[in-house]
Amino acid sequence: STRDSLNAWLDLRERVLRGDSEATARQHAKRKLSARERIDLLLDDGSFAELDLYRRRLPRDAPTEPHTGGVITGSGTVHGRTVFVYAQDFRIFGGALDQVHAQKIHKVMDLAIATGSPLVALNDSGGARIQDGVSALAGYGGVFSRNVRASGVIPQISVILGPCAGGAAYSPALTDFIFMVRETSYMFLTGPDVVREVTGAEVTQEMLGGADMHATTSGTATFVYDDEATCLDDVRHLLALLPPNSRTLPPSYAVEDSPERSCERLLDIVPADPVKPYDMRDVVAELVDEGEFLEVQDAWAQSVVCGLARIDGRTVGIVGNQPIVRAGVLDIDASDKAARFVRTCDAFNIPLVTLVDVPGFLPGLDQERGGIIRHGAKLLYAYCEATVPRIQVILRKAYGGAYIVMDSRSIGCDASFAWPGNEIAVMGADGAVSVVHGRRIVASADPTALRAELVEEYRSEMMHPYYAAERGLVDDIIDPRDTRAVIARTLRLLQGKRADVIERKHGNQPG
Ligand code: COA
Repeated sequence: STRDSLNAWLDLRERVLRGDSEATARQHAKRKLSARERIDLLLDDGSFAELDLYRRRLPRDAPTEPHTGGVITGSGTVHGRTVFVYAQDFRIFGGALDQVHAQKIHKVMDLAIATGSPLVALNDSGGARIQDGVSALAGYGGVFSRNVRASGVIPQISVILGPCAGGAAYSPALTDFIFMVRETSYMFLTGPDVVREVTGAEVTQEMLGGADMHATTSGTATFVYDDEATCLDDVRHLLALLPPNSRTLPPSYAVEDSPERSCERLLDIVPADPVKPYDMRDVVAELVDEGEFLEVQDAWAQSVVCGLARIDGRTVGIVGNQPIVRAGVLDIDASDKAARFVRTCDAFNIPLVTLVDVPGFLPGLDQERGGIIRHGAKLLYAYCEATVPRIQVILRKAYGGAYIVMDSRSIGCDASFAWPGNEIAVMGADGAVSVVHGRRIVASADPTALRAELVEEYRSEMMHPYYAAERGLVDDIIDPRDTRAVIARTLRLLQGKRADVIERKHGNQPG
């Protein structure tokens, strides 16, 4: 009867949803949640609509294959807005990916792309299912090619909550943001055993690919956490700042914090002496709504600060030089970090606010040998290409190539402001005088006095705070206390900006 089939179905469904409780206990013993618990924390209560619960390898091939194929897929809402999600279930063959598992992921990715909704991947897997051979590898290829097709179209967020090894690590690397949890998540191409066999080195999983390594050294992790619940809560926070796709603006929110609020504290935070350090994050906290700043890669390439915040209730991407770390120089890693961030913001219609206080690019053999030219070029390329509203604010100094790169007017920012103490120049006064007048100084009767005189002359002629404004390269000199209000008004003014995209296959950005 209908009642019998209903009961049989309810029974099966209940068993599949619960899964193997011993395996669940093993997962919990490792301080890890199950895939379903993770989905519950990520999505709004009761919003999960599952796909392919009954999917498994055809019983003909393997009569005991479990349902779900080791990955849970579907959609739900975060703060009321649709997202698609997949969560690998480590309880089933270590979350290893076979054909069925891959096809389920492909389906949910195709739906996210077709509907223009964000995709969140919760990774916890032993990699390609060894028994599935090259079919499993092909399954990964299907994931990677969809990651690339979705790139810049929908936000893609990877959350690493267990192992993510071998080829599997390339999916997160192709997405926009990577979340990791300390001591339980690992990402590497080759594990400790292979490293030992090939190189003889004894390394732990944590050293090779733990959250802290990726946060501080490789720069691969965007955000790291001590536990899964906080991590998943921050995924929700990030999603609240992003639009669902590249054709839509990020959501805007009503805020208590007035956009016209005067920022008196900025006068104390930023010392007048251009070589005295201060923490750029203190400046950001003053400028943005409620002081709330979601900084990306905060423990890597720290001489530049990048992150998302809101001003006047709307998402903005902030890029700032960081004077407390190596005087805020741009080096290889800082260029890579900022370039990636600028491109991410541009893809998702997030206006850019660039806070400039930069002594230049880092000089040195290591940097030149490491390719600072091509790395710095990535940042330059990213800014030049960005079509979102772009505002530059020069707080103190901006020298040389670094001045140009930090979203100067000449590379296309829409509005440029400077504080009254600004110093914008090709280089500092001492260096400039040595280059231009070196011979004259050496030949003079009193080199020290002549040098001092020439430095003073250079300062007053070439480095005075109105030099750039007189030439239209800075649009206005502003009262530092009005910085927030000026940014907010300018953002409103620039809201109607439309992309003027040149027809071409694609640019060939430096790599
Ligand atoms: N293919 C098939 N089964 C796999 C698997 C894979 N790639 N990875 C893990 N499993 C299975 C294990 O055999 C084990 O099955 P069992 O419960 O029936 O014994 C189960 O998943 C759990 O794995 P286990 O090794 O007990 O968990 P762990 O937490 O101790 O270790 C890994 C996790 C990922 C470090 C370890 O499983 C591993 O090294 N896997 C292989 C990684 C790899 O090289 N993958 C292929 C490259 S793409």
